[in-house]
Amino acid sequence: MASVGLVGLGKLGLPTAITLAQSGHRVLGYDLDPARMSLDSLAPYELDAERAGPLSATFDDTLDLHFRDLAEVVNDSDCVLVAVETPHGPLYEGITPLPQTRADFSYEALTAAVRAVVAVANRPIEIGVISTVLPGGVRRHVLPYTAGHSLVYCPQFIAMGTVAADLRTPEFVLLGYGESKPLVVKEVLESMRRNDCPTFEVSYESAELAKVSYNTFVGAKVTVANVVQQTAHQVGANAADVFAILRSSTRRLASPTYIGPGMGDGGPCHPRDNIALSWLAGELDLGADLFSALMFQREAYVGWLGDTFVKAAQGRPLVVLGTAYKPGVPIETGSSTVLMVNLAAAKGVDMTLVATPDDIATSDLPQGPAAYFIGCPERAFAAFDFPAGSVVVDPWHVVGDLDDVTVIRVGEHR
Ligand SMILES: NC(=O)c1ccc[n+]([C@@H]2O[C@H](COP(=O)([O-])OP(=O)(O)OC[C@H]3O[C@@H](n4cnc5c(N)ncnc54)[C@H](O)[C@@H]3O)[C@@H](O)[C@H]2O)c1
Repeated sequence: MASVGLVGLGKLGLPTAITLAQSGHRVLGYDLDPARMSLDSLAPYELDAERAGPLSATFDDTLDLHFRDLAEVVNDSDCVLVAVETPHGPLYEGITPLPQTRADFSYEALTAAVRAVVAVANRPIEIGVISTVLPGGVRRHVLPYTAGHSLVYCPQFIAMGTVAADLRTPEFVLLGYGESKPLVVKEVLESMRRNDCPTFEVSYESAELAKVSYNTFVGAKVTVANVVQQTAHQVGANAADVFAILRSSTRRLASPTYIGPGMGDGGPCHPRDNIALSWLAGELDLGADLFSALMFQREAYVGWLGDTFVKAAQGRPLVVLGTAYKPGVPIETGSSTVLMVNLAAAKGVDMTLVATPDDIATSDLPQGPAAYFIGCPERAFAAFDFPAGSVVVDPWHVVGDLDDVTVIRVGEHR
């Protein structure tokens, strides 16, 4: 078992420190606020790992958690976890109407805490940042101050009240790293779990994006449920029945399906349903329009893919392989690829279209190097004999690396 330092003993830090100690580690805690350097500051709503009663009721004399000054915490620990606040201004907490302006989190406390850790460290140390940052935040606001030390981004996916249970039975352990792989932080976080769950060791940016997208996903589910409830109230449907139906879809809704690379949503149903529902939202005066927001985001993504394709082509002729909305079904209704082609045409950009694999033989394709866009992930398109010197833009991640051909799998950074 390790000796773990915890800097920042707030709503997340203190129950984390306690859970680490209850998992067998020696924990040294430090907070700028002396009032937080005490077990008495634990929120009474925090439950034990079984969610059976207050976490505070599980303390006994064997709890190996000690409050120390920063230098002791850093230098007597095998790794230091930092769980200080990364607040948003009061305008952005979601308790007032959404303002016109937007802002990043404040990283002042996080930067100051990490700098303070580094300043007192008398040897190289592994620092694990738990605080939530936006993608790019670690490299911009933390990494510049940790030269000579190993930095891990290790956000936690916990909920207030169940920190102990969530840490001990996580869905996964997530570790973002840069130059050096996580060692002690990994061991410590993995040692807390009582269940069998995967560990992901990824780049800082991937870990940051996973953390915030996770929260957005939860928010999106809640918001769709809210819209169902409000619409039910107004059109005379029974919300509980609708929720029961949606919950029973463990194949397409409550499942990993659709969480993957690809084009925008498409087909003869989804776009037109959302567009019609945006009309209904207006009729029912829902006050906001989730459906248009979905359609605008889809359009923005697809337009960006078209721009990315043109840019990657660097003057090569543009060929789109596949215009159907999904493989095996030659239907273009609601196809995001057709939308991309139309958006490009509106900017005066022409693309040669190969609608289906059957059309390859009869299409008038460039003989030399060209730029190809995988519009539909048909096997025949993935296996196409791209001429040497070509570039392939692949939003579906179906084309492997090729000799003499540049393959850009959108969103892939290795
Ligand atoms: N609370 C949650 O549900 C939750 C969940 C997941 C992630 N997070 C993230 O964890 C981080 C901490 O959240 P929180 O809710 O515990 O915040 P908090 O405000 O309750 O606690 C932060 C603590 O850090 C201390 N602190 C600030 N600067 C310090 C320094 N230089 N040295 C030592 N201590 C310092 C503060 O005094 C405070 O006690 C945030 O980035 C938050 O987004 C929170």
